[in-house]
Amino acid sequence: MSKNFEIDVRKDFPLINNSDFAYLDSGATSQKPECVLKAMDEYYKIANANPHRGAYELSIVSTKAYDEARQSVQKLLNARHFEEIVFTKNATESLNLIAYSYGLENLMPGDEVVLSIMEHHSMIVPWQKIVKAKGARLKYLYLNNDYQIDETELRNKITTKTKVVGISSVSNVLGTMNNVEKIIQLAHEVNAIAIVDISQSIAHMPFDVQKTDADFVVFSSHKMYGPLGVGVLYGKKELLEKMPPFLMGGDMIEYVYEDHTTFSGLPNKFEAGTQNVAGAVGLKAAIEYINSIDYENIMHHEQELSSYALSELKKFDYVKIYCTQNKSNHSTVISFNIDGVHPHDVASILDANKVCVRAGNHCAQPLLRYLGIEGTCRLSLSIYNTKKDIDMLVAAIKKTYEMFRRYLKNNE
Ligand code: ALA
Repeated sequence: MSKNFEIDVRKDFPLINNSDFAYLDSGATSQKPECVLKAMDEYYKIANANPHRGAYELSIVSTKAYDEARQSVQKLLNARHFEEIVFTKNATESLNLIAYSYGLENLMPGDEVVLSIMEHHSMIVPWQKIVKAKGARLKYLYLNNDYQIDETELRNKITTKTKVVGISSVSNVLGTMNNVEKIIQLAHEVNAIAIVDISQSIAHMPFDVQKTDADFVVFSSHKMYGPLGVGVLYGKKELLEKMPPFLMGGDMIEYVYEDHTTFSGLPNKFEAGTQNVAGAVGLKAAIEYINSIDYENIMHHEQELSSYALSELKKFDYVKIYCTQNKSNHSTVISFNIDGVHPHDVASILDANKVCVRAGNHCAQPLLRYLGIEGTCRLSLSIYNTKKDIDMLVAAIKKTYEMFRRYLKNNE
């Protein structure tokens, strides 16, 4: 990786530029570049008004900013129609929207919803509730010994009973990159719809909704250099048009009578209440930032860094790594444990050594139970990370192990 790339990119991020700590938790939330902060600040300083509400100039300016943000997401995902992009507050809300609106409307007794065991709780829990309400059934795609879902498992589980398949493009625990195109194709062969959660991949690699033919796609702005509090739901127009609204009130209304209401068209039908325009403006700036660096460069840098981290961690026989051996199917997330030390203790000691990683179940308890572990420590990389960050992590892991070894010996 080029030294200049590291320096140039890092200086865009005020919170970590010149910091003395290694931020290795971008899978939880990314840091924000100056251009995103500036775009949001400017929106509030020169364009703030309630969009779609006023006939006055300022409200029109705010509406235009909001529409432009939607266009930029449309372009990012290569969606055919502007109305296919719905703003929510995060990927979790987008997933709830699909389950409550599409699922409640379309599932029948005996139908099956197939999810991978590596899904985030936000994909799993809403469907648990919906299948129960509709007399349908939840099935899981399990992993092989290399932390991947193989084709036999896909073909066994996705059957004519399947109506919905939910899959993340990249696991937030294992970093496995799933074969999303194949999964969508198999879902469509049995007339099921496919939901793809791209929260852990959109900061790192492109996603094309037309090329993949995904029916629904969700992600959060805050994991891709944008602000907290904005999420995206992409849905095929023909599906969204038939779905009932999820949340009620505000701009999603057309006419309200004493006993019934008619609703706005897309995308407003799914955007209840005053929207987070500044957040959408920030997301647009984040997309422009990604485009200015280019996914090719991002992938190159991050893959090099990820390989470096893996090769360093593999040097410790007391570190267990949970990821596929197939490098081309592995992203920027690396989960690990230190023999005999609880992941929360590891993370606390790493923190004392100025290294930020996430520890615990990562909102994926069914996966960890399936793997037979309580939790892991997880590092997740981003464009602003450097080899120095990895070296700090490696040094801190050594210290942690030494510390615990001494402690364990003294207590023998
Ligand atoms: N879903 C986020 C993570 O994986 C919070 O850390």
